[in-house]
Amino acid sequence: MARGWHCIELGAGAGSIARWLSDAVGDSGSVTAVDRDTSLLGDLAARPNVTVVEGDLMTMSFGSACFDLAHSRSVLMHLEDPDTVVEHLVPALRPGAVVLFEETDGEPARRAATGAELPEPFRAVMVPLAMQWTWASTLATRLVALGFTDVHDDVREDLLRGATPAATFWRQTLATIRPIVTDGARMQSVGRHAVDDSSYDAMIELLMNPAFAAPFAARHRVSARRP
Ligand SMILES: C[S@@+](CC[C@H](N)C(=O)[O-])C[C@H]1O[C@@H](n2cnc3c(N)ncnc32)[C@H](O)[C@@H]1O
Repeated sequence: MARGWHCIELGAGAGSIARWLSDAVGDSGSVTAVDRDTSLLGDLAARPNVTVVEGDLMTMSFGSACFDLAHSRSVLMHLEDPDTVVEHLVPALRPGAVVLFEETDGEPARRAATGAELPEPFRAVMVPLAMQWTWASTLATRLVALGFTDVHDDVREDLLRGATPAATFWRQTLATIRPIVTDGARMQSVGRHAVDDSSYDAMIELLMNPAFAAPFAARHRVSARRP
């Protein structure tokens, strides 16, 4: 990362990374912050070196040889076809450009779910969430197949522990998605079972309990260079 670089932030969210990139690349660089919902990016759009783009990563065109860096965090893992997004991104990268994708895989929870040790609310609420995240661990191999060089997959597995900042994040996330995952008809339409309210409440209690710890997610930081 250097001043003057041209960067694209995929799924910018509230813009914390795009803001950091904007400061780092300076006036001679640029940041394109993409999200399908740009309502939290108003202040960023006022910066002269930032362009906010409202669009769907699955269908949009990224341009041709215009970026020195592409970054995502907790975005591609949620898409229906993230491989296609990565493929579409390749022509938009300049020769020598760097990609860094920070995405999560649910392998630790999947593995733990085969044993008997997990608290039942965790098994009912968190394991099905983690089971959906199967893509991040395949990304490095995919980048090699696309001709990227210097491919590194830095994997970190932490236990999800109660009464920590991560637990607070998950309490907020569970509150946000509660109307969806407890809705029987809606969950049935995507081939899954709804979670019952008592398991949900018990899981939220566990997240406030400092004695709670369980294997949950592996964060993959996959970096590579376009030749
Ligand atoms: C979990 S948030 C992560 C936000 C940010 N990258 C971060 O780490 O703080 C996922 C973001 O991806 C965006 N997103 C999800 N699917 C998208 C799509 N198909 N096209 C564009 N943005 C998408 C969401 O609107 C949301 O802002």
